[in-house]
Amino acid sequence: MLGIKVKTMNNNDDSYRAVVTGGAGFIGSHMVDLLVKTNYEVIIIDNLANGRLSNIEHHKNNSKVKFVNADISDYTLNLEQSFEDVDYVFHYAALADIVPSINDPITYHKANVDGTINILQAAKTSKKLKKFVYAASSSCYGIPDIYPTPEPSAIAPEYPYAHTKTVAEQYVMHWGQIYNMPVVSMRFFNVFGLRHRTSGTYGAVFGVFLAQLLNNQPLTIVGDGTQTRDFTYVTDIVDACFSAAVSNIAQEIFNVGSDNTYSVNYLAELLGGEKTYIPKRPGEPDCTHADITKIKELLGWYPKVTFEEGVKMMLENINLWADAPVWNKNSIEEATKDWFECLGND
Ligand SMILES: NC(=O)c1ccc[n+]([C@@H]2O[C@H](COP(=O)([O-])OP(=O)(O)OC[C@H]3O[C@@H](n4cnc5c(N)ncnc54)[C@H](O)[C@@H]3O)[C@@H](O)[C@H]2O)c1
Repeated sequence: MLGIKVKTMNNNDDSYRAVVTGGAGFIGSHMVDLLVKTNYEVIIIDNLANGRLSNIEHHKNNSKVKFVNADISDYTLNLEQSFEDVDYVFHYAALADIVPSINDPITYHKANVDGTINILQAAKTSKKLKKFVYAASSSCYGIPDIYPTPEPSAIAPEYPYAHTKTVAEQYVMHWGQIYNMPVVSMRFFNVFGLRHRTSGTYGAVFGVFLAQLLNNQPLTIVGDGTQTRDFTYVTDIVDACFSAAVSNIAQEIFNVGSDNTYSVNYLAELLGGEKTYIPKRPGEPDCTHADITKIKELLGWYPKVTFEEGVKMMLENINLWADAPVWNKNSIEEATKDWFECLGND
């Protein structure tokens, strides 16, 4: 990795300081783990909209980890005080479930766009800022023409979540340009792993399937299950963010993916259990597959955890999904009614 300077435990006084927004969430909490392991001082900002304190509980006696319960979109809060002399900002806080964004675009805009501007403004006040890392989404590509999809592909968000993440990315790159801030945007593909989000809303496939499996319910496969996703393990994702942060590269956008794509049927096969089929959702691509040539070349990063290894780790820890909502055909139909109405059938 370029320019990395990792301090030792004996060097507490001048260890690096990082803010992780959304640090009580799925990906953010893994970023916190990595930074703590690297002996950074970490300030977590999260309003627990979807995050959980249990995700960061193992750091509660660590004096170098501070938790701030705050809504990043609240412009009246004095967030700057959390950014004093901060070296790195990892901005993960967002409303990240796709389906509910169709019913609640204003709340999504507030958290994902206004929240990002607020964090950019606060980060700008740090005199030591070395990198602002933004968690962007591959949903910006909509239904791509090219697979694997490279970064310069057309931007065509298909639903409000994707749109808010894209607009926020544009703000990040704009702040970089106008205020000379060292920013990078990391476009994650389908992230999976322990602590995968299981909020009350209908969400990503892993949380849904694992809760169904635990409760001996059939896995609700969307479409015919031949659609493929670029499933990337969460520790690889945060490793990519860290590599970008400590590199001397800025003002760049990177895809972060597994260099592969896997069908939902294959995932169901690895998990085992009964299957049932529900209608394919309009607006969703048949394939997501990142072209990761750029991140490999510029950052020397590559994914290390295979899909099969990742699924195995999740199955070994399946009890973590004991409290997750158990979806079935009917409740999914209800939760996706407005989605089908708004986006129509392809
Ligand atoms: N999981 C994926 O597959 C994936 C893919 C692409 C991009 N991303 C992006 O990565 C980031 C993290 O996603 P995740 O999957 O870990 O989701 P998550 O819901 O587990 O984490 C998001 C965190 O942000 C917090 N949050 C939401 N609104 C907030 C607000 N207004 N103020 C403060 N905190 C707030 C939530 O409480 C939660 O802890 C998001 O920005 C998401 O858009 C995720």
